[in-house]
Amino acid sequence: QNQLTGFPNNFLWGASTSAHQFEGAWNEDGKGLSTADMRKTPQGVTDYKVASDHYHHYMEDVALMAEMGFRAYRCSISWTRILPHGNDLVPNKKGLEFYDNLFDELLEHHIEPIVTIYHFDYPVSLIEQYGGWISRRSIDDYVHYCRILFERYGKKVKYWLTINEQNMMIVYGQSSVASLFYGEKIKERKTVMNINHHMCIAQARAMAIYHEMKLGGLIGPAPNITAIYPASNLPEDSLAAMNYSEFRNTLYLDLLVNGEYPSALWKYLSDRNWQPDILPGDMKTIADGKPDWIAFNYYFSECVRAYPKDKASQRSENTDDPNVTFMAQSGDKPKIAENVPNTSLPQTASHMAIDPVGLHLVLRMLWDRYRLPLIITENGCGVPDTLESDQTIHDSYRIEFLEKHLLSCRKAIEEGVQLIGYCPWSAIDLVSTGEGCSKRYGFVYVNRDECDYKDLRRIRKDSFYWYRDIIRANSLHA
Ligand code: BG6
Repeated sequence: QNQLTGFPNNFLWGASTSAHQFEGAWNEDGKGLSTADMRKTPQGVTDYKVASDHYHHYMEDVALMAEMGFRAYRCSISWTRILPHGNDLVPNKKGLEFYDNLFDELLEHHIEPIVTIYHFDYPVSLIEQYGGWISRRSIDDYVHYCRILFERYGKKVKYWLTINEQNMMIVYGQSSVASLFYGEKIKERKTVMNINHHMCIAQARAMAIYHEMKLGGLIGPAPNITAIYPASNLPEDSLAAMNYSEFRNTLYLDLLVNGEYPSALWKYLSDRNWQPDILPGDMKTIADGKPDWIAFNYYFSECVRAYPKDKASQRSENTDDPNVTFMAQSGDKPKIAENVPNTSLPQTASHMAIDPVGLHLVLRMLWDRYRLPLIITENGCGVPDTLESDQTIHDSYRIEFLEKHLLSCRKAIEEGVQLIGYCPWSAIDLVSTGEGCSKRYGFVYVNRDECDYKDLRRIRKDSFYWYRDIIRANSLHA
């Protein structure tokens, strides 16, 4: 019953990383400053300056991916490596060369690059020039950057992702986490919704240009999607879950795929004067640039109940609590929903609900709603690993986590969902967004810790061999 046989031929087996979390070389060869270079966790430990030093280890890293049998590798391009100020007219030659070399190396090993254009690391100069995504000028600059990438790499790269986890940047838009994305904490929910609107216009224009160039590949967004359950059988909790899902998961896809704001959410926003400023022509631009596929990141599920009125009045308006930030603003009562723990699910060591059935559910939901090819571009188990004295890493917990999620993928494929690839997080250890490099996700261990870069040696974990065997067999025998 647990046996997986026959993933589709040409299934894009691989794994993912992002530039700022993996490359290091933060100020080398003309690279400009990004918001990621400025950021540290509250504990002051996160350091993207060296990260896993992939910039200097890329050949060795690609060889390891090839040894696992990857058919795809999802990475991101560092915007400021190409355009140090975000909107320079002439791109940085050395930056362009780095990605040419990386893509050539991948292709020589028969690994298709899947390229995220923008993964959280925004050019600091654009914030200094005009406030970044807050301003409509950000749209032209994103499009300018995309055009350069399509012209330079369009023949080599057939798979493109516009923006990583736009929805998380919006959901967390008023929390201190937002400094990773915008360089500052945003006070007004309306500003966050304008940022969202600008990002959608920018992506739609980029997708339209990509199609005009007739490069023949696929381009689309890469949101983070969770399964969302009502906390009880109360009808109000189901409605809260639906409303929350509309904001958390599908707003961005409804906009990009269907060219429309969901009507209930629009009412919610406009009742509070949080609706974005829509200029004439905006909705046509959004409707004219459609995705060819949907990439999504899945880690866990959530459970919500209708937000109790009495509790709402006790909440701080400027709270950093990620569970309420998207709903908290002066005078806003009641809130959409409240997150509660799901006591039916086990958790990882870093307290994430482990829910492979949730992945099955999400795959079905996305396929039913959008009917576009899907790829999973993140999924994984972020925990500390132990390097044994004999230089082995026994990460059976990671194998178990990924195996269960792959079973869900297989079931969804059998039911007709067009899932064309699986790229878990992460190919090789990298620095997490909030908990430094001791929260590890990779199939390959990188020998460094928070403050000591050691020798950055690459060491294969048990999961490396496990994943290699699955790819080789194109099936999972559990
Ligand atoms: C996703 C991001 O949200 O989750 C990645 O796209 C991130 O950049 C990943 O690393 C895991 O989260 P974290 O905080 O454990 O790094």
